[in-house]
Amino acid sequence: MSGQASRRKRVAVLISGRGSNMHSLIAASRLDDFPAQIALVLSNKLDAPGLAAAQEAGIATAALDHKAHAGREDFERAMQDVLAQHNIDLVCLAGFMRLLTPWFVSQWAGRMLNIHPALLPSYRGLHTHERALEDGVKIHGCTVHFVVPEMDAGPIIAQAAVPVLDGDTAATLGARVLTQEHVIYPLALKLVASGAAHIEGNRVLTGETTSERLLVVPTPA
Ligand code: GAR
Repeated sequence: MSGQASRRKRVAVLISGRGSNMHSLIAASRLDDFPAQIALVLSNKLDAPGLAAAQEAGIATAALDHKAHAGREDFERAMQDVLAQHNIDLVCLAGFMRLLTPWFVSQWAGRMLNIHPALLPSYRGLHTHERALEDGVKIHGCTVHFVVPEMDAGPIIAQAAVPVLDGDTAATLGARVLTQEHVIYPLALKLVASGAAHIEGNRVLTGETTSERLLVVPTPA
């Protein structure tokens, strides 16, 4: 590896399932000028499809069954040990469906990102697409943010908006949102890993002079 490559931030992607966001991060990290490399994929589900895919992609993996640990903190201390063994700089939660304790979050303050399938602060929690349809909103989307102890809160790094169309179901709307998740997660990681993103209070400033790269504007189909 060149000197340039070795200075890239070492990222752990934490997953629980299929790992499509993990794939988008791996693909971006393989671009020459990307400031981060995916050094580890860690799953709390031993049979997560994303875990097998990461192995096939030649990426180091770890599987830690949360049910095999005495409690949440015990599980997190095991995760922390694995992250330390792999010299991880940044953590990306990508469909990692475990609530994290303030202790674990504090270990990664300003260094842990999450993607959420809604335009935060709207629709924290689960079933975001169903709830957006129930409410009749016309714009929905996704958010990448820094992780803080409160669930689905924390300074927002990037968001993308999509239109809600007449015939949408939770599945079609979710698929439209997911396409944008795959755009903004690599972008957000790039901003953080390159050092361009600075947290000021609850805001993330990136030095961007236009919103062009940070906001995907919905185009009606
Ligand atoms: C993604 O839609 C992500 O935003 C969501 O889980 C999905 C994981 O898909 N995350 C959450 O709901 C976290 N609260 P993926 O495994 O294909 O990346």
